[in-house]
Amino acid sequence: MSKTFRVFATCDIGPSIDLLRKRGYDVEVYPQPEAPPKSLIIQKVKSGIDGLITTLRDPIDAEVFEAGKGSLKVVAQIAVGFDNINRADANRYQIPFTNTAEVLTEATAEFAFFMLGALARRMWTAEHLTRENQWGYWHPYLPFLGNEVTGKTIAIIGTGRIGLAMIKKCAGFDMNILCYDPAYQNKEFVTAIQDTMDLRVARGISKEKNWIKYVPLNDALAQADFVSVHVPLIREGESSTPTYHLFNEQSLRKMKSSAFLVNTSRGPVVDENALAKALREKWIAGAALDVYEKEPLPANSPLRDPAIEDRCRLLPHFASAAEITRLSNDPNKGMAGRCVQGLIDVLEGNYEGDVTKMPYVVNKEAFV
Ligand code: GLV
Repeated sequence: MSKTFRVFATCDIGPSIDLLRKRGYDVEVYPQPEAPPKSLIIQKVKSGIDGLITTLRDPIDAEVFEAGKGSLKVVAQIAVGFDNINRADANRYQIPFTNTAEVLTEATAEFAFFMLGALARRMWTAEHLTRENQWGYWHPYLPFLGNEVTGKTIAIIGTGRIGLAMIKKCAGFDMNILCYDPAYQNKEFVTAIQDTMDLRVARGISKEKNWIKYVPLNDALAQADFVSVHVPLIREGESSTPTYHLFNEQSLRKMKSSAFLVNTSRGPVVDENALAKALREKWIAGAALDVYEKEPLPANSPLRDPAIEDRCRLLPHFASAAEITRLSNDPNKGMAGRCVQGLIDVLEGNYEGDVTKMPYVVNKEAFV
């Protein structure tokens, strides 16, 4: 490699940074755990870096691309979601950006399932009871009961990679599954899951026959005991199937009063004021959230209302926060490894320099 590539990382992504240094890259890492101010990102980009490593906390738009005109060659995002990157602007400036799809699929889906279980079985409230020495007796139904997951019906909203992985986990728990996707339907996958459900009954592994099917959104909301959200954040005008505030007063009112909502996708898919109201007024039984309209969750968020504390679980955007998923150098296992490989592919001109052939580049359409 003749040229020394200069890279700025807005966050320490772990040992994968050393992979770049070993290749002779000049890498500067923003040292604080918080996101850098946008002005600093612009300053670094203006200084002539070749590559920028970003997290979902960094707003990357025309201002940043303009600062990198003639020098910035790639933005490598360590996340599958990229709603913080303005795709139209990236395309206009002809800057490829990469993401870390696939490697966090199972980790995110299992976390969504664990959130669902913890919410339904009231584990947080139950542990508080034990820790605060309020556990006075074993009793058939006091001080409260939870709801079983096994045998219930779940609606999977969004059947991309993570939605499909969630379906797999739910099928393992003998759940019935309603699928909804605003943009695309994977009927082959659904048929394969139905086949495995049927096989479990045929081989005596499951007693009850379970089912899975695609349905319209309203049917999914009206029939489900659990609703798990797995759509990307798409704002109005970005596509014909926006997901911004897909869960609002109107849609929350369509859910059963005994139903639970789980969101591990993006915060703005759920209108938080509407959700807090739904929980306060008991239109639905509970919610577990890992993502928020504003992150970190503001101190004055209505979701922190003590009146709904027992039925509202709040996690700190943690679904992909598992060791191998976050840190592995292997681009087939870790977000950091994939992020760095995406950056290398562009800067070192892998795939004969053809951006449209690079597997981790998102905005290929700008280079055809
Ligand atoms: C996490 O939220 C991600 O998009 O990777």
